[in-house]
Amino acid sequence: MLDMNRIPASIAIIMDGNGRWAKKRFLPRVAGHNAGMLAMKEIIKTSSTLGVKYLTVYAFSTENWKRTEEEVSGIFKLLVRYVDSELEELNENNVKVRILGDYSVIPEAAKERIEKSLKTTENNTGLQFNIALNYGSRAEIVRAMNRINQDIRESKLDRDTEITEELLSRYLYTGDENDNIPDPDLIIRTSGEERLSNFLLWQSAYSEFAFTDVLWPDFTPEEYKRLIEEYQNRDRRFGGRK
Ligand code: FPP
Repeated sequence: MLDMNRIPASIAIIMDGNGRWAKKRFLPRVAGHNAGMLAMKEIIKTSSTLGVKYLTVYAFSTENWKRTEEEVSGIFKLLVRYVDSELEELNENNVKVRILGDYSVIPEAAKERIEKSLKTTENNTGLQFNIALNYGSRAEIVRAMNRINQDIRESKLDRDTEITEELLSRYLYTGDENDNIPDPDLIIRTSGEERLSNFLLWQSAYSEFAFTDVLWPDFTPEEYKRLIEEYQNRDRRFGGRK
């Protein structure tokens, strides 16, 4: 049974397997992403209901640009469609949308919808839904270092500032600019792959991992709850001992 008093506050998901889901059905890859978007919708709802505070999803990595033009533009068109049909409901459900990654370079229509989502939901106090878009963890860490450097040059930071873990954390996408998202308690990856793929490398230092063979479009609230329950049965020690 799921212990409602011990729901992880911060969950991150690598939504993998859309392509294989489509292939199995002789459908174009974009159809898989469309089905994945529907699955994502349900998981946001379930996260809100369970009282998860931060849900972070890997929607588009810095490496995903290598896919065909058709697939890339298909994903961003889906994003536009998703915001147009769901923003109102997300807002009514008090969900606050945030972006991790440099979205300045995504197609204009998608960028517009992102900005609208951020603005519309900025004062909401329910689930914080973080979308990693054109995100890569190594690039994020390098960017943080450069931003610290810049703040020193512009005298926003003292010139002999010591770089600490806390300081670096604040300059990551998950830091100050996105209200300091707590490190994920649990990271889920679907579709049987068991790797991090440049996602939240710094933030996952003490995360628990849960893997499932289910392809992302087939991922249900029931499977989600099963993985959270599995997480609740683990013994987290953070390097110490009990
Ligand atoms: C991984 O599956 C999934 C992606 C790269 C895209 C995720 C996108 C969505 C779930 C829908 C769009 C939603 C937004 C907010 C943009 P894959 O294509 O790598 O699958 P495969 O490993 O089976 O090929």
